[in-house]
Amino acid sequence: MKLISTSNYQELSQQAAKEIISRINHNPSLNLGLATGSTPTGLYQELIRDHKQKQTSYKGINTFNLDEYIGIPKKDRNSYHYFMCEHLFEHIDIPLDQTHIPDGTAKNLDVECMRYEQFISEHGGIDLQILGIGQNGHIGFNEPGTPFDSRTHIIDLAESTRKANSRFFESVEDVPKQAITMGIASIMDSKEIFLLVSGASKAKALARLLTGEVSEQFPASVLQKHENVTIFADKEATALL
Ligand code: F6R
Repeated sequence: MKLISTSNYQELSQQAAKEIISRINHNPSLNLGLATGSTPTGLYQELIRDHKQKQTSYKGINTFNLDEYIGIPKKDRNSYHYFMCEHLFEHIDIPLDQTHIPDGTAKNLDVECMRYEQFISEHGGIDLQILGIGQNGHIGFNEPGTPFDSRTHIIDLAESTRKANSRFFESVEDVPKQAITMGIASIMDSKEIFLLVSGASKAKALARLLTGEVSEQFPASVLQKHENVTIFADKEATALL
């Protein structure tokens, strides 16, 4: 794993954006895996800025999001569909039918998980996956204990995850209890992975990822086994290294 440490969050966002833009210039039909949450929003702003200033085009790109809450309609402001439109898709030239996110309102959620997994492989797999990390080491919504051979599946969110994400909702009771997430094996199939880590609250998780043992109890540790991972971390996140 390659570690790029930056002096602050803005620099982290800029560096990650620069690398993504260079991958897009090199491959205008890149399959790009995306994450939601607070960490990548600065990166998305940088991509939007670049698109407006330098006209980097997303017309040939397909995006695949890691996860979606179960039971939240796409148009609800708390859905990850809504999040992605608001923070990225509606500001660049990507055709919306080339943006893919699991459907957390599907009638048959098991079928939806299989469909999404198959859909990604029919598109040739993910070239570059963007990840954030939970304080408990989750990647996507793969909480501690998720098998490393898991494919897209339904997960019960950890109480700590629901609490952390309650900042986006009116109260913690409103945070869904389940989500659909790409599995660990689905994520590991990506040809390249960028992990973004920002802030003091992630310092312990980053230290454990870099120096701890590979264990299903700390899902991100599986990244030690991937051949092409770059970690972008700001000063606060690297404080314990
Ligand atoms: C989001 C996702 C999660 C987040 C993680 C960190 O699609 O899959 O793994 O990346 O919970 O979230 P933030 O960035 O809000 O700290």
